Amino acid sequence: MSFVPQTVVLGDADAVADHAAAYIVDKLAAKPDLVLGLPTGETPRGIYARLVEACRTGKLSFARASSFNLDEYRGLPPGHPASYHAYMREMLFRHIDIEPARAHLPNGLAPDAGAEGRRYERLIEEAGGIGLMVLGIGGNGHIGFNEPGSPFDSRTRAVRLTEQTREANRRGFPASETVPEAAITMGIATILEAREILLVATGTAKADALADALKGPETPECPASVLRRHPAVTIVCDTAAAAGIELCAR
Ligand code: PGA
Repeated sequence: MSFVPQTVVLGDADAVADHAAAYIVDKLAAKPDLVLGLPTGETPRGIYARLVEACRTGKLSFARASSFNLDEYRGLPPGHPASYHAYMREMLFRHIDIEPARAHLPNGLAPDAGAEGRRYERLIEEAGGIGLMVLGIGGNGHIGFNEPGSPFDSRTRAVRLTEQTREANRRGFPASETVPEAAITMGIATILEAREILLVATGTAKADALADALKGPETPECPASVLRRHPAVTIVCDTAAAAGIELCAR
């Protein structure tokens, strides 16, 4: 079964962050114990800044909410500045009232990635499943760190990162360090089990991936194309990221 995601195209990255943050604020207001799936990277920074501000001014509370991040690099301790633990702490968690024990990320240091994947899946299940999954998209169509070729029935597991992804993520690392070659990521099946999905994309670097995801074949070669199998996906993007979709629509 295939569905057509609802797509909201806005002028620029600020408008996208405004819209996405307002969307999340509304969902949390309606369901204060919402279980969120959360992304990292450049795209969500503006969203997190707005959520922090909403919390600071008393318009929003995460006191009863839980969160599960999509992924973490393998081998990076939570204190490493380029780890996603550090990113989330700095961008969001330390500024809001979320219960630290309910803000989850995969453990990149787990010696047994298989056991860590199963532990993470169990935690999600015990929390009642993910209510709203917020996603970015890679220039190669990845979601989480599910790179092209990831099976649609994959679950939380260790993966190897493509050179394209490692290069795109270089900016987070000191010049003297290399980007890890592996990560632990929620699987595609894990993502697809969320009750609702909000995908956010900005900039021309995402235009081809977004067009492939929405208009190309539904194939593991473009992991985000699987989102058409989900009945409740909203895409919020700027005109630059939407350029490919609009070409297809002509
Ligand atoms: P970005 O990453 O927001 O840093 O572009 C998105 C992604 O890789 O999912």
